Amino acid sequence: MKILIVSCSLHADSKSRRLASQLESLWRTDGDVAIATLDLRELALPPCDGGAAYGDPATQRLQEAFTAADAVVFAVPIYNYDINAAAKNAIELAGRQLTEKVVGFLCAAGGDHSYMSVMAVANSLMLDFRTIILPRFVYAGGDDIPESGELSSEICDRIAQFGAEFQRLARAIHTA
Ligand SMILES: Cc1cc2nc3c(=O)[nH]c(=O)nc-3n(C[C@H](O)[C@H](O)[C@H](O)COP(=O)(O)O)c2cc1C
Repeated sequence: MKILIVSCSLHADSKSRRLASQLESLWRTDGDVAIATLDLRELALPPCDGGAAYGDPATQRLQEAFTAADAVVFAVPIYNYDINAAAKNAIELAGRQLTEKVVGFLCAAGGDHSYMSVMAVANSLMLDFRTIILPRFVYAGGDDIPESGELSSEICDRIAQFGAEFQRLARAIHTA
């Protein structure tokens, strides 16, 4: 099974990228799953215009990465009670390539109250593309992630639980 982890923050010291790295390290020790990663900072996607942007080489790389994956994890910053614009733009450009795939979210937020922020994009993926959303997110807000140093054991436990449940659902769909 091939799983793609997409890091969506454009911030140099991103917290959601640290969540993604922790999940990647955990899964790298599991020989049964092939992990690919994508960092939106390195892709230079065009803004989606519903037209010419779909032919951009960066968009095509994104679409190919989604197509090659059996399941996709998005590590996202929460901006304005939503996923950040870079993540939304990636989904506007390549959401169709998530059709009937399992998708999960790792979220970094500034506060504790924006925990339903991925629901708009989750609903849109479910309705547009029959994407199967893992009904467990990692939401790390407020003081959950220190500015520097190691992630707390509590966050690592939540990532491990997410990782186990993501793989269980992805395998079930993959082999169905
Ligand atoms: C434009 C902007 C909007 C934000 N909106 C929210 C918000 O609605 N709720 C929240 O809890 N944090 C909000 N934050 C804080 C970010 O979620 C927080 O900085 C988080 O660490 C960003 O993820 P990143 O570190 O991976 O880039 C916002 C930050 C920015 C820059």
